[in-house]
Amino acid sequence: MTAPTPDKDAVPDNVSGPDNASGPENAGDAVSQAAVVDRSDHLAGAENALLRADELYAGYVPGVNILNGADLYVKKGELIGIIGPNGAGKSTLLKTLFGLVPVRTGSVTLDGEDITNLKAHSLVARGVGYVPQTNNVFPSLTIEENLEMGAFQVPAKFKERFDFVCEIFPALRERRKQRAGSLSGGERQMVAMGRALMTEPSVLLLDEPSAGLSPKLQDLVFIQAQQINKAGVTVIMVEQNARRCLQICHRGYVLDQGRNAYMASGRDLINDPKVIQLYLGTLARA
Ligand SMILES: Nc1ncnc2c1ncn2[C@@H]1O[C@H](COP(=O)(O)OP(=O)(O)OP(=O)(O)O)[C@@H](O)[C@H]1O
Ligand SMILES: [Mg+2]
Repeated sequence: MTAPTPDKDAVPDNVSGPDNASGPENAGDAVSQAAVVDRSDHLAGAENALLRADELYAGYVPGVNILNGADLYVKKGELIGIIGPNGAGKSTLLKTLFGLVPVRTGSVTLDGEDITNLKAHSLVARGVGYVPQTNNVFPSLTIEENLEMGAFQVPAKFKERFDFVCEIFPALRERRKQRAGSLSGGERQMVAMGRALMTEPSVLLLDEPSAGLSPKLQDLVFIQAQQINKAGVTVIMVEQNARRCLQICHRGYVLDQGRNAYMASGRDLINDPKVIQLYLGTLARA
């Protein structure tokens, strides 16, 4: 069952697989039934993945798991989307991948190297970038200073990376001396993504980059995420705008109650009657 762990370091005996992880409290619930997936697709697809996570259990409070056996992989060059209801654990999954929430059981590998529970700064040095859902810029610093902060581990590369970022976000060059706190939501999001790109990440984790933006700006963010991906960065994107996300991603995941409910190409998910009924009907529309 989805057994709460007795404390954050303890490894429960009963969390070895999806069957064990679907608890009686979930039984009979259509959403949770959908969540009981065969891991074979994951195991087949995850071979040679750039980043992969296997059967992750993680949470904030001792005894309560938010991630309940989540699997994920991304191949080099892919743009993948993660959608799911509020509170499903999408942000927690990204935070866990980025070393901000400890993995209780399960593993994370990058290019075949075990990175489970490495701290965020080590992950940045290994090529993982992360843009949090909220509070993702330093408001009192200028755009340029925010980008300098992003490049603090590679100061010699500032100019080269600044030019790269400004090719994707030309507005940032024009307004480089403006304080981030005075920018619109859409502009701040550009600064946040730009800052994460300063370290030349091989994989970028984006948490709801379109949240709170006007439909027009949301559209721009999706185009920018695609541009980032086309520039050679592998992207994992959590999104509340589920339809739009599934339209642009190569592959998508539906996360529900901390575990995979569905994993398929964006096109297949967006056309899947069960996914539409259970997830797309109630989530934000494009
Ligand atoms: N810092 C925290 N301490 C304790 N519980 C937390 C913390 N952050 C999140 N949670 C809980 O973890 C669960 C999953 O939250 P999470 O933010 O990962 O969901 P989400 O899928 O990203 O939701 P949303 O779509 O609203 O962003 C929620 O029940 C939430 O209350
Ligand atoms: Mg979230």
